[in-house]
Amino acid sequence: MSDVLLDVRDLERHFEGLAAVDGISFTVGRGEVVSIIGPNGSGKTTTLNLVTGALRPNGGTIALDGERIDRADSAKIAEHGIARTFQNGRVFATLSVADNIEVGLHSTLRANRPFRRLSNLFLLRWVPLLAELYIAIVGTPASRREQRRIDEVIAAEIDRFEARLGPRRDDPAYSLSYANRRRTEIARALALDPKLLVLDEPTAGMNQSETAEVLQQLLELKAAGQTILLVEHKLDLVMTVSDRVIVMDGGRIIAQGRPEEVRRDTAVVEAYLGRRRGLGGVDLV
Ligand SMILES: Nc1ncnc2c1ncn2[C@@H]1O[C@H](COP(=O)(O)OP(=O)(O)OP(=O)(O)O)[C@@H](O)[C@H]1O
Ligand SMILES: [Mg+2]
Repeated sequence: MSDVLLDVRDLERHFEGLAAVDGISFTVGRGEVVSIIGPNGSGKTTTLNLVTGALRPNGGTIALDGERIDRADSAKIAEHGIARTFQNGRVFATLSVADNIEVGLHSTLRANRPFRRLSNLFLLRWVPLLAELYIAIVGTPASRREQRRIDEVIAAEIDRFEARLGPRRDDPAYSLSYANRRRTEIARALALDPKLLVLDEPTAGMNQSETAEVLQQLLELKAAGQTILLVEHKLDLVMTVSDRVIVMDGGRIIAQGRPEEVRRDTAVVEAYLGRRRGLGGVDLV
């Protein structure tokens, strides 16, 4: 087994002439925490969208565990072992915390969703639908076992955020604070026990103490061996949690290395300072 989990080469994505991601290459090693930083519009989220299959690349390759995933859709990529959260947070507003976590597990269901491959075949789509309906109403020993496993995973994820999510297990997501919605989203991603966890600005909109709490959780995940690809503007957090930092500007990688190396890199400082004058970047401290 190679030490490289994610291998991105010459990745490109254009939007009507704009090179949002302009030929970038990087790797994420097994158990590594790699962060992507850069000014607004530098291509960070587009990179994550490409890695997670939300967008198709115009060029380049992406491999997870040695297997090409750049042509796979996001459901397939989730099955391969990449789970993500979104920059603006995405939870189902009317579902409870527990149900939001369960939604994440849907792609892993086997006994509850037999014949699921058939659902891609137009003429045979009704077969899995009828089978799922039967199992939902009558149940089978295997489907009941699977439901027990799902309940255990949900309980474990709520435990992870016990003080915050424990008392709110059955509350609808719309009634949660912003920070708790983001925790629910992270719990949903972690419930999949992903090989690679992809987080897009997990602390956006959080205050200092909430950010410190997320940092603590990221450090715990890291200590447990979780591989993480993180986009984040809060550089203190980035510098504390990351093994390596990738700096993007204008769709390209302008620097990468260990946190202390990147901090010293003048191109990095310029990318930030240049934006800070006119366009409102972030502080490099
Ligand atoms: N779906 C899209 N259609 C057209 N242009 C897009 C699309 N998605 C991103 N872009 C453009 O691509 C560039 C990179 O955007 P991206 O969202 O990747 O930046 P970012 O580094 O995540 O920025 P931020 O820090 O503000 O989140 C921007 O100029 C953006 O306007
Ligand atoms: Mg972004």
